[in-house]
Amino acid sequence: MMTPRSHGRLSDKIAVVTGGSRGIGRAIVDKFAAEGATVVNLDLGEPAPDLPALALSTFIRTDVTKEVEVQSAMAAVVEAHGRIDILVNNAGVNAYFDAVTMTEAQWDSVFAVDLKGAWLCAKHVLPNMKERRAGSIVNIASIHASLTMAGMFPYAAAKSGLVGLTRSLALDYAPLGIRVNAVSPGWTRTHLVEEWFSLQPDPAAAESSIMTAHPMGRIATPDEVANLVAFVASDEASAMTGASLAADCGLGIQFAT
Ligand SMILES: NC(=O)c1ccc[n+]([C@@H]2O[C@H](COP(=O)([O-])OP(=O)(O)OC[C@H]3O[C@@H](n4cnc5c(N)ncnc54)[C@H](O)[C@@H]3O)[C@@H](O)[C@H]2O)c1
Repeated sequence: MMTPRSHGRLSDKIAVVTGGSRGIGRAIVDKFAAEGATVVNLDLGEPAPDLPALALSTFIRTDVTKEVEVQSAMAAVVEAHGRIDILVNNAGVNAYFDAVTMTEAQWDSVFAVDLKGAWLCAKHVLPNMKERRAGSIVNIASIHASLTMAGMFPYAAAKSGLVGLTRSLALDYAPLGIRVNAVSPGWTRTHLVEEWFSLQPDPAAAESSIMTAHPMGRIATPDEVANLVAFVASDEASAMTGASLAADCGLGIQFAT
């Protein structure tokens, strides 16, 4: 278990983070623990190897696309900790496809992670939150929910769906004291982005042109996204529900000149 700080923004909270073994999810796990939460990471892969403090009891190997695994993971968290205060639906995959050549199976597999997984996790956390009339869900969407780039249509469609899911759940569960918000990162330096750079014909030139396209001259770090997620998840954001906040170093505020 990440050793929680006794006083922090998330002090005494029980939080579930999906896809917490690397990238943005790993930064969220670290930040939440530093803010006092007890954090359980549900990931398909291994627990972060360089985090000895992250004991197996707080890592549950789970494929968020499989309802039976999600249901059993959430039940295990409630059994161990008595409740779930915060759910962060972070697990996601990139998708580079053309609308004509993409197969139905490929579409289903992208949507299973990027959209269905968030619903399944919410489905199996909401009953516990409802009982206590309290809870906070944060969905990690993407700048692709509002702006996109060529060749990524299923990712843009799934992330737009995730923002829609956020609004609908926020509306349905607001009377029950449960908040549901989205954080939409822009380019963030993780495995997904490094992979994209490496796939370009001239990776160094591609990286430089992406930096130049950002008004701040750089892309975000996972820690910067995690800071925003911690605020949105916390009681400090108690009046906020159904919102979608960008962390994109200004990319979404200008058109090409
Ligand atoms: N990196 C970016 O620039 C960026 C930008 C916008 C949005 N996002 C979103 O942020 C989230 C995290 O992205 P990242 O860059 O850290 O990705 P990443 O690939 O570095 O990490 C994703 C994590 O999710 C886990 N995961 C994947 N499929 C899973 C499944 N079916 N069940 C459980 N866990 C699963 C992986 O094992 C991995 O640990 C994703 O939802 C992504 O779409 C990332």
